[in-house]
Amino acid sequence: MNIILYGPPGSGKTTVGHTLAAQLGRTFIDADVLIAERAGRTIPQIFAEAGEAEFRRMESEVCAELGAQNNLVIAPGGGALLSEANRRKLEKSGVVFCLRADAETLLARLSAAGDRPLLAGPNPAEKLNALLAARRTLYDSFPEQVSTVDQSPAQVSVVILERLQPHEIPLRAPGLQHDILLGYGLLERLPEILRERELTGPTLLVTDENIFRTLDAGRQKTFAHRLPSVVLPAGEQHKNLATLERLYTEFLKHGLDRNSIVIALGGGVLGDMVGFAAATFMRGVRWVNVPTTLLSMVDASLGGKTGVDLPQGKNLVGAFHPPALVISDPLVLNTLPTAERAAGMAEVIKHTLIDDAEQFAELETASAFGSAAQLARNLSVKVRVVQEDPFEKGRRATLNLGHTIGHGVEAASGYQLRHGEAIAIGLHAELLIANNLKWTPPEITERVLAVLRRFGLPTHCPGLEVAHIRQLMSADKKKSGGQLKFALPRGVGDVVWGVTVPEDMIMEALWAVTGGG
Ligand SMILES: NC(=O)c1ccc[n+]([C@@H]2O[C@H](COP(=O)([O-])OP(=O)(O)OC[C@H]3O[C@@H](n4cnc5c(N)ncnc54)[C@H](O)[C@@H]3O)[C@@H](O)[C@H]2O)c1
Ligand SMILES: [Zn+2]
Repeated sequence: MNIILYGPPGSGKTTVGHTLAAQLGRTFIDADVLIAERAGRTIPQIFAEAGEAEFRRMESEVCAELGAQNNLVIAPGGGALLSEANRRKLEKSGVVFCLRADAETLLARLSAAGDRPLLAGPNPAEKLNALLAARRTLYDSFPEQVSTVDQSPAQVSVVILERLQPHEIPLRAPGLQHDILLGYGLLERLPEILRERELTGPTLLVTDENIFRTLDAGRQKTFAHRLPSVVLPAGEQHKNLATLERLYTEFLKHGLDRNSIVIALGGGVLGDMVGFAAATFMRGVRWVNVPTTLLSMVDASLGGKTGVDLPQGKNLVGAFHPPALVISDPLVLNTLPTAERAAGMAEVIKHTLIDDAEQFAELETASAFGSAAQLARNLSVKVRVVQEDPFEKGRRATLNLGHTIGHGVEAASGYQLRHGEAIAIGLHAELLIANNLKWTPPEITERVLAVLRRFGLPTHCPGLEVAHIRQLMSADKKKSGGQLKFALPRGVGDVVWGVTVPEDMIMEALWAVTGGG
């Protein structure tokens, strides 16, 4: 895994890069220096003699080259990651830390260095401010932000080194005894981690075609090719008995036995299916879940539920069979399609509403989500809830927030809405009910809606029929005693479960989110 340091001029990419590389015994590469060396001219000379287009071409070439290498500390040029393609090439290879400082600090550092072309000519402060304004969205879009204000390069290095440490979160409840390892670059260390944890024996990796294609194009190739693997078609429509049968056949073909380990590398669909295959093959083999979607990292990979769908409905066949280990590497999220990332945010936001008001407040202003620390903190909500109520007698029902109505919305859309999208709409409707019951003030609903929208989620489903949603909600397997039970917020970080709601309030909320369809 590479470590990539990015940020505005004067943020210290080069000095921190040298310090960090020295501490880690790695090579530091300043991409601009490399380009200049290769061209045999300075960057301003390249600009003047060959033009900016030629410089950008050389820059892309260098990004591709560095992205194909490993264990480097890289400082790309200031404008390098404005190109989406360059960003993808580098992010596939490692984690980007965006170094930040206010304009005044940056200017003071640049003046002290004295040789930055940016400062040539009149009014450098104005120029710097314009550059910062133009690039703010880009800088803000990296989940790893590091303030360098009043910090020496050595101190900034320490912060980065700390953030590179993997999180080890134990999950301990009756029948659920495993760790969740979460950290940058864990995927490429997977074979080594399995050995360390004595998860050895005939091993088979199962993934889906999308993941295989995207990861295979990156450096993960090395490990995906070292392990025998099966690549399944992607999508919920394949989470069925036919794919399961194919899996059993592959298990036999690869000589798996009771001492085997099956690795599920994929989203919730793959994890549910492979977990169920592991639960039932030869009456149960060990498996390791390596979630690759945001939704599966914070939700589906935790709790031990596995299963497949039947034509009659989702998750109708299943088993409780927790993995021996969950390994989450936030770097895999870099290739996740935007809509899938947004869908995962619905569960992230749900978790903050259940038990993390502080992280909810962070989300209200955050531009990006997905650092290892943020993920560890968010999934810990589910871990805590599951540990407290392993047998689903009480508090675990809070995880159903947004789902009573959300499941109805998801089904009424004919599964055209992603699960997370439907949950966002369900959250909206259930908050309206909580408002109506006078449990939460409308301001809370507005704040939640703002966060949902901030992360690209829908909050309405015009076109769906109220009666249809209501009818499908009744089919929800979570209904008990013939009555729908809701989990409803009493505020941010405080959710009550087992609530029955007057029918007219349910209908009113459905009218509001559908626009009365
Ligand atoms: N077991 C549980 O407790 C539990 C909880 C919640 C949801 N689920 C289940 O999870 C499933 C939904 O999971 P999901 O949202 O992860 O969907 P998914 O597994 O279908 O993945 C979404 C899409 O993203 C692709 N993809 C996955 N990782 C990628 C990556 N890193 N880069 C590029 N593409 C990638 C997949 O191929 C797929 O096309 C549902 O079947 C649901 O029932 C289970
Ligand atoms: Zn859900």
